Amino acid sequence: MNVLAPEFWVDPYPAFAELRDDAPVKWHEECALWTIARHDDLMRISRDPATFCSGRGVLPSDRQREVDPAASILFLDPPDHHRHRKLVSPAFTPRRISALEDRVRRLAKELLDEVDAGEAVDFAPAVAEPLPMLVIADMLGVPASDRDQFKLWSDAMIDAATEPTEEAYALAFELWQYFEKIIEERRVDPADDLISVIAHAEVDDVPLNNAELNGFCMTLLVAGNETTRNLITGGIEALANHRDQLQRLVSDRTLIPSAVEEMLRWVTPVMNFARTATKDVELRGERIAEGQMVFMLYGAANRDPEVFGPSADSFDVGRDPNPHVAFGFGEHYCMGASLARLEARVLFDELLQRYSTVELAGEPERLRSSLMRGLVHLPVTLN
Ligand code: HEM
Repeated sequence: MNVLAPEFWVDPYPAFAELRDDAPVKWHEECALWTIARHDDLMRISRDPATFCSGRGVLPSDRQREVDPAASILFLDPPDHHRHRKLVSPAFTPRRISALEDRVRRLAKELLDEVDAGEAVDFAPAVAEPLPMLVIADMLGVPASDRDQFKLWSDAMIDAATEPTEEAYALAFELWQYFEKIIEERRVDPADDLISVIAHAEVDDVPLNNAELNGFCMTLLVAGNETTRNLITGGIEALANHRDQLQRLVSDRTLIPSAVEEMLRWVTPVMNFARTATKDVELRGERIAEGQMVFMLYGAANRDPEVFGPSADSFDVGRDPNPHVAFGFGEHYCMGASLARLEARVLFDELLQRYSTVELAGEPERLRSSLMRGLVHLPVTLN
């Protein structure tokens, strides 16, 4: 079992069940890390950054490089993490996020207007990719005239995370320079956008510096785009494969919020994040040594029968309660959770007002990744 091989992640669920039952905390010699398969262990680790830190990286590949704390909030531990999070959280309050609903709905409608009933469409590039991209560009205050270029840079950033070519790095650097310019402008002349809010926020009179602010913009792009895109494609695929659940939703759209939670649990778009032990610690009788990495399998926790009962392996749009960990847990709980929920809720609401059947029109093509669970192509017919 090589948990770092993209092949492992094509259908990891049988292996997850085995790990949960036989070795919930397991050392993998070839990957030099521990996997964590049970929901309660994952929560325990996530809420204890003093013992399981983020500062030495949150991906196994981070071990091969020097982690720069200014590059992302993801790499910070308390107390720096608290300070950084307090500074950026004003941009993500429920009030600010719900104020975006009309704009998100307009974008969702425009994208769905381009889809023809009864004709096969590749839902990934047609709807699922552009929606989160346009929303985040709008929030950041990227001028509409720069949107195409912005999309190129942003795609390169995402490519660089999976396949770090020189070309992708060069484009990501151009994006860095682009943000640098906008940040300078907004410091002097604030606008009604997220960069201005964060640039002018202060905790104990100390604002974020430009490198931290630029790192945050880059993090938002990566954190907010591919994740939400994959929630949408994975949610559509789940509805196409579970017609009874689709019909339930069509006949009662008040179930959409709980359906979105179930899609988050079912798809688990971010499949794992890691922490490093800051001291020797015992977990379920296993001795984790200082400096060793623990690899949290969110998808395994999200199908844990101890939490989700005997129906853990079923897709149920009315599941309640649904304490999934698709957005992580504890200190680093996803800052964009309300935004991702809003985008998915609005999109499925608009979609199900127009269509009552979703059928696969070809084989979906899975993203080759050991981090993101996603579909690059999703041919469907909507009626
Ligand atoms: C379905 C969509 C999404 C999923 C599944 C997801 C998942 C996650 C997870 C698992 C974490 C925890 C990281 C950790 O513990 O180390 C996280 C953190 C984060 N997410 Fe999301 N995310 C989504 C959408 C978004 C969006 C739309 C944004 C912003 C526009 C966003 C911004 C962030 C940020 C800034 C963090 C870091 C928080 C911190 O370190 O304190 N995410 N996300």
